[in-house]
Amino acid sequence: MKSFKILTVCLGNICRSPAAQGILETVAKNSRVFLELDSAGTAAYHLGNKPDSRSIASLRQVNIDISRQSARQVCEEDFHNFDWIVAMDKANLANLKELQPADARARVVMFGEFSELAQFGEVDDPYYGGDEGFVHMREHLTSISQAFVAHLETL
Ligand code: 4NP
Repeated sequence: MKSFKILTVCLGNICRSPAAQGILETVAKNSRVFLELDSAGTAAYHLGNKPDSRSIASLRQVNIDISRQSARQVCEEDFHNFDWIVAMDKANLANLKELQPADARARVVMFGEFSELAQFGEVDDPYYGGDEGFVHMREHLTSISQAFVAHLETL
């Protein structure tokens, strides 16, 4: 079975990227690839915190437990350790590209546009909105994760 190391990245590492990690883990379980997963933020606002309670709750509705994750910031080593670093939005991607060393191992892409065929767009930041934003985030991340894992199966 092919194996990939994937880092999901957003701004705070408490809403979108922990959810993306949990959803990818679940999608990969029923696939032909093995994923080693982690998540991180481009900012250091929430270091050591567990995911936002609204993110935990929206994933719990589909039996995915992300409550044991703890926020950390992206570091240079990540670019050498992971095969893919997937950003939730264009600002995250721009920040990652600034940090990316010339000899990076990782492919650094926007999660919703992981290949030229994928057109899922940016994953909106739900932090300042209501609970419905977290359900929308979960559904968007699920669509992307299914397509991404299907893509990895072809590699
Ligand atoms: P995330 O959402 O990037 O999906 O984790 C945010 C979390 C916290 C903040 C912004 C976005 N914040 O400004 O603290």
